Amino acid sequence: MSRLADKVVLISGGASGIGAATARLVVREGGKAVLADRDGAKGRALARELGDAVLFAPLDVTDETAWNKAVAATVETFGSLHGLLNAAGVGVRNSIEDCSLAEYRRVNDINGLGTFLGCQAAIPAMKQAGGGSIVNISSVLGLRGASYAMAYCASKGAVRLLTKHVALHCAQMKYGIRCNSVHPGYIDTPMIAPRLDQPVGNMSGRQWLEELHPLGRLGRAEEVAAMILFLLSDESSFSTGSEFVCDGGLTA
Ligand SMILES: NC(=O)c1ccc[n+]([C@@H]2O[C@H](COP(=O)([O-])OP(=O)(O)OC[C@H]3O[C@@H](n4cnc5c(N)ncnc54)[C@H](O)[C@@H]3O)[C@@H](O)[C@H]2O)c1
Repeated sequence: MSRLADKVVLISGGASGIGAATARLVVREGGKAVLADRDGAKGRALARELGDAVLFAPLDVTDETAWNKAVAATVETFGSLHGLLNAAGVGVRNSIEDCSLAEYRRVNDINGLGTFLGCQAAIPAMKQAGGGSIVNISSVLGLRGASYAMAYCASKGAVRLLTKHVALHCAQMKYGIRCNSVHPGYIDTPMIAPRLDQPVGNMSGRQWLEELHPLGRLGRAEEVAAMILFLLSDESSFSTGSEFVCDGGLTA
């Protein structure tokens, strides 16, 4: 129960789904978590539930100033910053023919640019701490395409290679900061809830999504959080710039 003893982790998208499940694990393993999210009601409620080891920080990941404030609040409250999970994201269905410029920008701003700003804001504080671990959530749709998710695939592909740059840069600079990407299959969180009731042919949305995975089911947020915990901890000390897939066999 002390795999993250005394480590401080900032989690964008920490109010819900995979980010919230990771916050619970961070606290269980002896760390401190900052839930940084644009959903203040949900984020504050979870922070209250998890107690003194958790702080809520309001954050729109597309806002550079808000990122700097979230990092400053983290260091002010808990003394340092060792881990960053970039989990904030939006999932949108569209194709190259029907996606507007505004929609393309919105999805790429939140998923792609938000991850860039998070890494940039966190690195100086991690340098001060003597090192750290950054985990960026991409997707299986950052590894392969999908006819129904053009802007999302573009944004998650960007996260995959941004991660490799951050890893290589920090290694070259000898900062002791590692950076890896996580690629979930379909995980049963509020993000995909609207799709579960939308029929696909003669199947329910849930059945259709389940059958994409050889394990025959959706993933759980806790299953992705367990992989993230490994990456945030020193157990993964020789892993950087790598892709960690958690997809029930989907990409196999
Ligand atoms: N659920 C899946 O099937 C799945 C699959 C692959 C990848 N992912 C990725 O995992 C990450 C977490 O998704 P989830 O499934 O936990 O979804 P979720 O909807 O449960 O949580 C996403 C969180 O991000 C926050 N958020 C959204 N836009 C924001 C912004 N601009 N600024 C700050 N916070 C913002 C939301 O308020 C929410 O709390 C996302 O990056 C998503 O793309 C999810």
